Amino acid sequence: MSTQQNAAATGRKLPTGIPGLDSIIDGGFADGRIVLVLGEPGTGKTIFCSQFLYSGATEQNEKGVFIGMNEPQNRFMSEMAALGMDFQELEKQGKFAYIDATEVRRIPEQAKVGRIPVGGRELSLVNLIDMIQDGIQKLAPKRVVIDSISDLVFRYPAVDERRPVVLDIVETLTATQATCLMTSELSSTGADRILQPEEYLAEGVVLLRIMRGGTRTIQISKMRGSKVDIKPRPYSIKDKGIEIYSTEEVYDQTR
Ligand SMILES: Nc1ncnc2c1ncn2[C@@H]1O[C@H](COP(=O)(O)OP(=O)(O)OP(=O)(O)O)[C@@H](O)[C@H]1O
Ligand SMILES: [Mg+2]
Repeated sequence: MSTQQNAAATGRKLPTGIPGLDSIIDGGFADGRIVLVLGEPGTGKTIFCSQFLYSGATEQNEKGVFIGMNEPQNRFMSEMAALGMDFQELEKQGKFAYIDATEVRRIPEQAKVGRIPVGGRELSLVNLIDMIQDGIQKLAPKRVVIDSISDLVFRYPAVDERRPVVLDIVETLTATQATCLMTSELSSTGADRILQPEEYLAEGVVLLRIMRGGTRTIQISKMRGSKVDIKPRPYSIKDKGIEIYSTEEVYDQTR
């Protein structure tokens, strides 16, 4: 049996650090698995992932790496500091690394390596995979976040083209043996929404939504190998981040 299988076979659950979440997902995220955090803009995907890393480092002594596609390190640090998460201190202690992957988004469709024209989308993917591998080598983290894969995968409008791209990212994350969260933008909502390739490929899916009446809801639409509560539950974002009301019902309707 490979070490990778060993890690996944420990059956250990990592506490998520998000108040109210562990009780609806049977104790936490399974060791070594890849979970997709899918949501509309502003639903708290970045905060969700940060709480997972921050609590891992401060309460479980587990190192974390954040691969940021959306914002440079200083902006991430200050936004999270406003919510009581001092990532700067964790970085000093060697428990955290931020990999600034914003340049990946800026690679144009028609790129060049030296003088040779190459496909910008492919170059972006290769760059991202390199960055994930570099980050892992640097710190050997137990928890990894990639926020978000949307810009990259939306460069491939056709689903049959997008699938292998997501698969490459998922396989790179799996090889790290860390427990990984990746975020993505929810492209359609409502009961009859079309599932995105990343939902099939991740081992777990957490859906974050804002209902018509303004209620924030979280729903675990999938978590392989765990007994989960699949009902949507309300959550709030306040000064200390996300809190889930795991026993409350949602009466508000989807948009
Ligand atoms: N102190 C706070 N009190 C209440 N709400 C807050 C607070 N801090 C942040 N928020 C909320 O959190 C949201 C942003 O969270 P976050 O950046 O994690 O969302 P996101 O899903 O990653 O967004 P994007 O898709 O733009 O990346 C804001 O829309 C804001 O409503
Ligand atoms: Mg975000």
